[in-house]
Amino acid sequence: MKHPPARSGRGALRRGAAAASVAALLASGTVALAQAQASAAAGCKVDYTTNDWGTGFTASVTVTNLGDPISGGWTLEWDFAGNQQVTSGWNGTFAQSGKHVTVKSPSWAQTLATNATANPGFQGTYSGTNQAPAQFKLNGTVCTGSAGPTDPPTDPPTDPPPGNRVDNPYAGVKAYVNPEWSAKAAAEPGGSAVSNQPTGVWLDRIAAIQGANGSMGLRAHLDEALDQGAGVVQLVVYDLPGRDCSALASNGELGPDDLDKYKTQFIDPIAGILGDAKYAGLRIVTVVEIDSLPNLITNAGGRPTATPDCDTMKANGNYEKGVAYALQKLGALSNVYNYLDVGHHGWIGWDDNFAPTAQLLATVAQASGSKGNVAGFITNTANYGALQEPYYTINDSVNGTSVRQSKWVDWNRYVDELSYAQAFRQELVKDGFDSGIGMLVDTSRNGWGGANRPTGPGPKTSVDAYVDGSRTDRRIHLGNWCNQAGAGLGERPKAAPAAGIDAYVWMKPPGESDGASKEIPNDEGKGFDRMCDPTYTGNPRNNNNMSGALADAPLSGHWFSAQFQELLKNANPPVR
Ligand code: BGC
Repeated sequence: MKHPPARSGRGALRRGAAAASVAALLASGTVALAQAQASAAAGCKVDYTTNDWGTGFTASVTVTNLGDPISGGWTLEWDFAGNQQVTSGWNGTFAQSGKHVTVKSPSWAQTLATNATANPGFQGTYSGTNQAPAQFKLNGTVCTGSAGPTDPPTDPPTDPPPGNRVDNPYAGVKAYVNPEWSAKAAAEPGGSAVSNQPTGVWLDRIAAIQGANGSMGLRAHLDEALDQGAGVVQLVVYDLPGRDCSALASNGELGPDDLDKYKTQFIDPIAGILGDAKYAGLRIVTVVEIDSLPNLITNAGGRPTATPDCDTMKANGNYEKGVAYALQKLGALSNVYNYLDVGHHGWIGWDDNFAPTAQLLATVAQASGSKGNVAGFITNTANYGALQEPYYTINDSVNGTSVRQSKWVDWNRYVDELSYAQAFRQELVKDGFDSGIGMLVDTSRNGWGGANRPTGPGPKTSVDAYVDGSRTDRRIHLGNWCNQAGAGLGERPKAAPAAGIDAYVWMKPPGESDGASKEIPNDEGKGFDRMCDPTYTGNPRNNNNMSGALADAPLSGHWFSAQFQELLKNANPPVR
C-alpha cells in the first residue's frame, strides 16, 4: 500500500484518456423492475444503475434472490435495448452475444441465500440513448420484484447486527504503542516527541505470528497491550496469496495458488490467538489485506493498466476467497473489528474505479457470510495523499475551467483523503453495508509541512498554475508512492476526528521503508520496484514522471532513518 500508488497513476492515466467524454457526466437512474409473477420458490429483483458519459458507461446491477436459497451458482441474463456493448465486468463472468448478456456467478461466490444480493457490474460502450434493459432473468426466472402472491411480503435484506461490538473501537480507550517501533523512533534525534504514538503491527508473513527474526510475535504484542492497559490494538493482516500483484516492492511469501496455506497457516493461527479469552477485553482492529481487492478493479480484467499478476489473481479468485475467509474467521470473534482497504483518492477516486470497488467489497464481505463481518474501511494506508487541501477544493474553477481539468487532478472527483473517505463511506452504505460503518485514514506520512508548503491559494493565471500553487501535496505526480521526498508526519492518531471517521491512524509505521531503491537480495519475497529508485524516469502509471523517491532506501518494512528524520522535519501539524 503501500504502494497502491502505482495503481493510482494507472487510474489517472486511463481517466485522462476518457476524460473529454466524461464532461457531461452522469445522471444515474435506478430502474427497479416489477412485472407479473413467476413462481413461488423462485423470485428475484434487479436494480440497474448506470453512470453515462455519452459514449460509455459503468453499470451496477444489484440482484436480490427472493426465492429459495441458490447454492450451485447463479446466472443472470438480459437483452440490451440498444447497441450497448460490455467491455469489461466484475463480480461475475460476463458474456455477450448480440444484444444478449449472460453473467455467471464468480467461482468464489456461488451461493445466494434468500434475500441475499449479488452485485455484478460492468463498463460498456453505447451510442444514442443508454436505456436500461426491460427484463432480467435469474436462473431462468423472470425478475418481477417479488417471489409470488402466495409468499408473505419479504423485508429488504438485512445483515445480522454486529454483535456486542461498540460503534467505534477507538472511542474512549488508549491505543497500543508498539514498543519495537517506539524504540526505533526514540533512538532518532528528536524522535521521542512522537515515539509514544500508536502504530500498526504488521503480520506480514507466517513467521510474524510467532515473531520473525527475534521480533515480538502476536501474543507478545497482545500481552504487552494488556500490560499497557491499552483498549485497542491495531493489526495489519497482510500475507495473501500472490500479494501485491501490481507492485513488486511488497510481494509476499505465498504464491498465487497458496490459498490453503494462507487459511491454515496464517489466518487460522491468528484467529486462534485472538480468540484466547485472555484477550477478550481488548478491541482488536484488523486491517485485512490492503491493496488486494482494489487491484482487481484497476489493474486486471481488460483494463489498459492490467498486470499479468493481477490478471492471474482475478482469474483464480484467491484474493476474494482469502479475504472472505479472513473476514469470516476474524469476524466470528466479537472483540475483533475488521477494516477493509479502499485505497486512496489518487487511486480509486476516478468514476470508473469508485463504484466498482465498493461493489466488489460488498460482494466479498457478503461471501464471508455477512456484511456485518466488516466494521469499517481504511483509506491512504502507507500512501501520501493529503488529509485536507486547505487552499483549493474540487469545486473550484479558473476562468470557467474546473480544477478537475488540471494536470494534477486529471478528472479525479477528490483532491484529498477526508472528502474521499466520507464519500466512499456513503457509497458503501448504498451497497448494503451498515450505516454505522466508520472509516480510518492513515495520516502517518501525509502532513506535507516544512518549507515547501504553500501558505495560500496559487495564482489564477491558469488552472494548472492555480492547482500547483495551491496543493500542499508536493509529490511530482499523484501516482508516486514510494518513500516520497518532502513528505512529513500527518495528523497525530486521534479517535472520532470527523463525521464518519472512526480515527486518524498511523497504520504504516513512520520510518519503515516502502521499498528498496535498488535490488537487494532477501528471503521475504520482496522484489525491486523501480518506483522506489530516485533515478527512475517513470512509466505510463505516473505519466512518465520521476519517482520522487528518497535514495538509499532499504527493503520495504525495514527501518529507514533518513526518511524518519525527514518526516519529523516536515511534519504538519508540526511536532512540538
Ligand atoms: C512491507 C511489510 C511491512 C510494512 C510496514 C510493507 O511495505 O511489505 O513487510 O511490515 O510495510 O512497514
